[in-house]
Amino acid sequence: MKTEVSHFKDNIRSWYKNNARNFSWRKTNDPWKIYLIEILSQQTQLDRANKYYKKFISEYPNPEKMAVASKKKILKLWSGLGYNNRAIRLHESAKILSKKSFNDLYPNFMELPGVGKYTNSALLSFAYGEKVITVDTNVKRVVQRYFKKDNVDKFIEENEKDLLKHFNSRDFNQALMDLGSYICTSTNPKCNICPLEQECMKYIKITKKQQEPFHNSNRQKRGQIVNILINTKKVRSSELAKKLNIKETTLNKLIKDLERDGILNISKNKYIEIKSN
Ligand code: ADE
Repeated sequence: MKTEVSHFKDNIRSWYKNNARNFSWRKTNDPWKIYLIEILSQQTQLDRANKYYKKFISEYPNPEKMAVASKKKILKLWSGLGYNNRAIRLHESAKILSKKSFNDLYPNFMELPGVGKYTNSALLSFAYGEKVITVDTNVKRVVQRYFKKDNVDKFIEENEKDLLKHFNSRDFNQALMDLGSYICTSTNPKCNICPLEQECMKYIKITKKQQEPFHNSNRQKRGQIVNILINTKKVRSSELAKKLNIKETTLNKLIKDLERDGILNISKNKYIEIKSN
């Protein structure tokens, strides 16, 4: 008799064969390309991230090219994506990678700013072909619902070997990510068209993520500050406060955040500008 795990794998495999999304970075082993799409796709839909990927990879085909670029140029290219500190971390990583390659760092890339357990596993699976599961929210949701597990991290860890046996880890991971973002969605999952529907335990727990509303939020204001500064040389804080229609004390807090993130510099005479490098 077939086990739950092998049923799961059979269905995932055949679904992915016919439904895989076709992105150029899915066919490469270049860790820089993999790393770039991973950073771009954090908190961003994949189709949108892919548009930025094309711009970035043509401008910065390797870390050395990005390492010597200005922050302003990188932020300009990043414009519209949000969460600008991702761009800063990417730039800092490129500087490290221009001295030490991915192969030098292998198998632990966490020295690069912004690389945690998930991104490390994505690099190991997609660039190095290691038998590793990339435990992101989509992967977790699919596995949790199908196998009815409260502690899904533990379940994945204990069954990683079995789940990946005779299964290319890249295909396995990307199949679950695609299934999770199109069918086994966090709300309104499309069980009626799901290839796993028959044996799935359908352990569906809807958890609403609390996100800071964007409109008028500090995040929006920080984004506006960066947008102004990528198109000017430097601005006085009083001028900036006026443009944003906020008090200088409020502005100062936002500026401090951006300074801490390595995005801005404040000069002694209260001029604010994008950090030079
Ligand atoms: N999100 C991040 N990396 C991904 C990948 N390789 N495939 C699908 N979704 C992803």
